[in-house]
Amino acid sequence: EGAAGSLAVAQGKCQGHGRCYAVAPDLLTDDEEGFVAQAGQVLPISVALAEQARAAADACPEWAIDYRVS
Ligand code: F3S
Repeated sequence: EGAAGSLAVAQGKCQGHGRCYAVAPDLLTDDEEGFVAQAGQVLPISVALAEQARAAADACPEWAIDYRVS
């Protein structure tokens, strides 16, 4: 199993819709106010988590999450 890419969570775009961590519970979590807790982070994505990463990027209506395949 190798790296499949990276997931970049933008700082300042999240509006708390909550869809990303619902579809990618192994990657993303919510803070105490319902915003994504990983804002400002770039997460390495394994092959096993690639589908969750793609789903999270597709789910956010604010385009806060960018999945890049390596
Ligand atoms: Fe925020 Fe988008 Fe997730 S608005 S909680 S990053 S679905």
